[in-house]
Amino acid sequence: MSRVASEKWRSKLTSAEDAAKFIKNGMNVGVSGFTGSGYPKAVPVALAAQIKEAHDRGEEFKVGIFTGASTAPELDGALSDVYGMSLRMPYQSDPSMRNRINDGTTSYVDAHLSHSGPQVLAGHYGKLDVAIIELTAITADEKLIPSSSLGNNVSWIEAADAIILEVNSWMSEGLEGMHDIWYGVKLPPERTPIPITSAGQRIGQKYYEIPFEKVIAVVETDDEDRNTPFKPLDEDSKKIAGYYLDFLENEVKQGRLPKNLLPLQSGVGNIANAVLSGLLTGPFENLTSYTEVIQDGMIDLIDAGKLVAASATAFSLGPDYAQKMNNNAAEYAKTIVLRQQDISNHPEPIRRLGVLACNGLIEADIYGNVNSTHIMGSRMQNGIGGSGDFTRNSYISAFVTPSTAKGGQISAIVPMVSHHDHTEHDVHVIITEQGLADIRGLGPQQRAKVIIEKCAHPDYKPILEDYFARAVATANSQHTPHILREALDFHIRFLETGSMKP
Ligand code: COA
Repeated sequence: MSRVASEKWRSKLTSAEDAAKFIKNGMNVGVSGFTGSGYPKAVPVALAAQIKEAHDRGEEFKVGIFTGASTAPELDGALSDVYGMSLRMPYQSDPSMRNRINDGTTSYVDAHLSHSGPQVLAGHYGKLDVAIIELTAITADEKLIPSSSLGNNVSWIEAADAIILEVNSWMSEGLEGMHDIWYGVKLPPERTPIPITSAGQRIGQKYYEIPFEKVIAVVETDDEDRNTPFKPLDEDSKKIAGYYLDFLENEVKQGRLPKNLLPLQSGVGNIANAVLSGLLTGPFENLTSYTEVIQDGMIDLIDAGKLVAASATAFSLGPDYAQKMNNNAAEYAKTIVLRQQDISNHPEPIRRLGVLACNGLIEADIYGNVNSTHIMGSRMQNGIGGSGDFTRNSYISAFVTPSTAKGGQISAIVPMVSHHDHTEHDVHVIITEQGLADIRGLGPQQRAKVIIEKCAHPDYKPILEDYFARAVATANSQHTPHILREALDFHIRFLETGSMKP
């Protein structure tokens, strides 16, 4: 049976190819989608085909693409394969997209996720011409049920001149009721407090408000979300998760955290998922999370009765867990709230609730500054995503990483980061498989000693200690000692020889 049950809305049914024809060279297009869930699956592929045909005819055809966060091969992959994007914001993690960003053919604005929607609404990126939004269903009584992510959709619906809807029958109808859309988000000076005082609290409504007259096409689809499987947990991930859980347990013992902790935020990647798995067998009960994505490990925690409220903006599930979600969405909706990303990632509830942030990094320096985005200072990997939103505003912000990369040829702990995303002011704990550095309350030189001792790989410890000792001597022990001529020598050595080792 069609998921577009309303006769009125059925009058807009169109093929993906015809819907894509509304999009012209130079337009800005806001699409749904966040970490591989809830992105449109048919119109972007049709658009990519039309762009390719135009290029084959020698015509210019590029669009600006605004999303919630990363999407999937049917969107970032398809459009970047045909060199179809002039601008991309605010986050991506697609290999082909990454190449377009790094070969300079697509301009990439790596923006904080909580800022991105309001900034577009405010006109900082020019006009938003079209929005393409995926839905689960349009009911006979015209309820517009969101799909597996909310992301920036509410902003795109408001900002766009015209809207294309994709209604995806793969999505579980049990998702109805899981979403919480708050139409109180305004631009300054109209802003009011966001009334969230607990992670699972609902403050809004379950359905989108979409002006019928703005909708230029409704396309029916039946395709699954990207659902990339998580890697099996390796020994290092388990060690890192173990150190973090011991740290949290000690914080409870010291009276600095309540027994059920504070709402957890868990970043992208396998280590973050390993931490969630560790919580499954750990001592904590009645946990909550205020985060941006629901990962496999959270589903296990909900099933085990350990996670009692989870707030996010999207799913990021492996295929088995996505299936489980599809089979039991109505049941999970009792525990999970999906919010728009300018609420899930908003500094105000993150700070009020005292979120415990835990994110991945590319490299950290001996003073606690963190690079989350750039390889060797130049090559964009993914983007800052929500890590800035959470790190800056959390109660305790932790970063997790293996101590080395590329088979041990790169140290994740370096004298000076080659690109700067999170400053020393926002980083409280750094964890590698070697150990955990708790740098709260420490000055720069104390931090350097602890980070090198606890987190650096033994292959790199002596050269980091040597650098630090000489920096202290050379800079006459000034506040944050560096030998600027040498600070990036680790990186230069890797670029010249393929290894940071001397
Ligand atoms: N130097 C060079 N390359 C490095 C590196 C370093 N110090 N550290 C990691 N890499 C490379 C890895 O080798 C790997 O390369 P490959 O894809 O060619 O194999 C790649 O970077 C990813 O590393 P991986 O160890 O698989 O990391 P991950 O999946 O845990 O992701 C980040 C780590 C930092 C890339 C990821 O956490 C991220 O994108 N963070 C920013 C966004 C974010 O934190 N979002 C969550 C907010 S809620």
